[in-house]
Amino acid sequence: MTEERPAYLSLKNRTVRRRTPQAFDRNGTATEPADGDCSDHEWPACWDAAASLLEWSEPYERIVDTENAPFYRWFVGGRLNAAENCIDRHLEERKNQVALRWEGKRGERRTYTYYDLYREVSAVAAALRELGVEEDDVVTIYLPKLPELPITMLACARIGALHNVVFSGFAPNALAERMQRVDSRALVTCDGSFREETVIDQKRKADTALASIEESLPTIVVDRLGSSHDMHLGGNQYDYDDLVEAFAGANVSPVPREATDPLFHIHTSGTTGEPQRMTHATGGYLTGVAWTAQTVFDLAPGTTIWCTADAGWITGHSYVVYGPLLSGATVVLAEGSLRYPDRHRPWEVIERNGVEVFYTTPGVIRTFMKWGESFPSSYDLSSLRLLGSVGEPISPDTWEWYYTHVGEERCPIVDTWWQTETGCVLISVRPGVDELKPGSVGPPLPGIEIQIVDEDGRELPPGEPGYLTIDRPWPSMLVPLEGDRYWVLAEYWQAFSNPRADSWRYFTGDRAVVDDNGYVTIIGRDDDVITIGNRRIGTAELEAAITTVDGVTEAAAGAERTIGETALCVFATLEQGQQDRTAIRNAVADAVAEHVGEFARPTSVVFTPELPETYSGKTMYRLLECIVNDRPPTDSDTLRNPEIVGELTTIWNQE
Ligand code: PRX
Repeated sequence: MTEERPAYLSLKNRTVRRRTPQAFDRNGTATEPADGDCSDHEWPACWDAAASLLEWSEPYERIVDTENAPFYRWFVGGRLNAAENCIDRHLEERKNQVALRWEGKRGERRTYTYYDLYREVSAVAAALRELGVEEDDVVTIYLPKLPELPITMLACARIGALHNVVFSGFAPNALAERMQRVDSRALVTCDGSFREETVIDQKRKADTALASIEESLPTIVVDRLGSSHDMHLGGNQYDYDDLVEAFAGANVSPVPREATDPLFHIHTSGTTGEPQRMTHATGGYLTGVAWTAQTVFDLAPGTTIWCTADAGWITGHSYVVYGPLLSGATVVLAEGSLRYPDRHRPWEVIERNGVEVFYTTPGVIRTFMKWGESFPSSYDLSSLRLLGSVGEPISPDTWEWYYTHVGEERCPIVDTWWQTETGCVLISVRPGVDELKPGSVGPPLPGIEIQIVDEDGRELPPGEPGYLTIDRPWPSMLVPLEGDRYWVLAEYWQAFSNPRADSWRYFTGDRAVVDDNGYVTIIGRDDDVITIGNRRIGTAELEAAITTVDGVTEAAAGAERTIGETALCVFATLEQGQQDRTAIRNAVADAVAEHVGEFARPTSVVFTPELPETYSGKTMYRLLECIVNDRPPTDSDTLRNPEIVGELTTIWNQE
């Protein structure tokens, strides 16, 4: 922060070019400014206003059914189709407007208008049906950032099938697990992708996963590598382009889904460490996403947004695919790493595409800081008008740098707090409405009520850190399948609810503090989940991989945040007499890459006589995070073995 600037930056009604958003009533008719502003209404009527941003084929009878709390049902009785809302309803007004601009790693470019999307989504939808995919079936999508990724998601939605996108960097084991857990009926993948100068054999990874499932699932393979590479199509495997050609011009009517029907599965990591199947329902999810796309990201027809997230992450679902397309915006999708072919790429993408809204993570911004301001300052970034951040706390320094060197002190920053489970942003400043406060995510959005509570669930006053909880249900909340209800209750509702009084409070797993104005600052996770490469990973999943290595008895993982990116650090204990530490170190790194994915490969593996443990025998991850991030260790008085803290700090510093 520079001294002259107040703690709260006033950009109120100043910098954001607000356009009248296109809104639709429940019959699909465009309405007057209906800006879906929740703040004008009481809960839950505020969400009725937000739902008017969607086109409903059947109006709902109830906004929210609270009878079976905390398994709330939103927009009961209503029917709608996600693909129709993202594509068809725009055709009359913006058929020829660009919906998607894709930039490949090798300089390739493709653009799709809304009409192009309509045609290709319909063809893929017809092909999926032909391959036996029916309404309510699940299709796993294992693709890097290619246009075929959003297209396949929407093709599933069109026929009422659920998509289950698995991050393309996951290893075959992780893919197989995530397919089995949702009983996937088909797979969409690609032959490979380019990583810098080498080729990643995505198809081989997919085939390995399929072989371990021992089922011959219909598989569609996108040709990314070109004619020089054989796609090795086996039985029941099809070339995406051939299918699109065969089904060109198909007319596939969008299947009207109940608002409460699931739209997709996505996996996340919770305290059990096992990846968990998360499910979002059609009407509620789309309402939350459409409303925040407009309110938080100021998206309107024709706005160009570049959200750097992968679609394997909820951020990609909500703000690369659904939010922007529901809003009639133009999506920029850039394949590959932001540093390839060189550090100019991010700025070139913004300049070339006239990006107005740029949404990324603090890790990426820290990398930009490391590269230096000369990169953004050599480009024309005047198209930018709004910046966003998500995924982890952004420090005031990083915020300042982003504000000054990317936003040119002109663009507000929305630091958006949300989760896979929440479906859409729940806490953020609204550009043009709220004042900005670096380091704080801002107030909860209208319609959202939060409380910071202590261990016993008592509300804490401003300034006192505690557990971040959400008091009232919201439309895009997690909607677990019947079989997931038990663990969902245990993981999210049990801690602070009082079922006897029918009083339910959602626990986010985060710790936070509010100020006197209700602005929230996120402290971090309270559970055994760490964020690497912006993916939430249960430490238990990592440790299970690490302890497959002979000689390793116990392990714990920590995330080191440097000025560059977040890296995984592993602490391990060894069997007596293990001498070859280098070999074990390499084996640990390989085991993580093999079982979880290359993206999670640890950058350091250190050996310790013991791990820091609480009296109940739980590893104290918060303490490890302090050590690897050079912060004074906290909470060591609750340790069974406090003497290990000093020893661990010494070992870490010698590494
Ligand atoms: O700890 C919070 C952190 O990321 C967690 C959710 O991770 P995931 O489900 O993978 O979704 C990430 C993208 C929505 C949260 O529990 N988190 C998310 N946004 C922020 C954040 N921490 C601080 N500031 C944020 N803006």
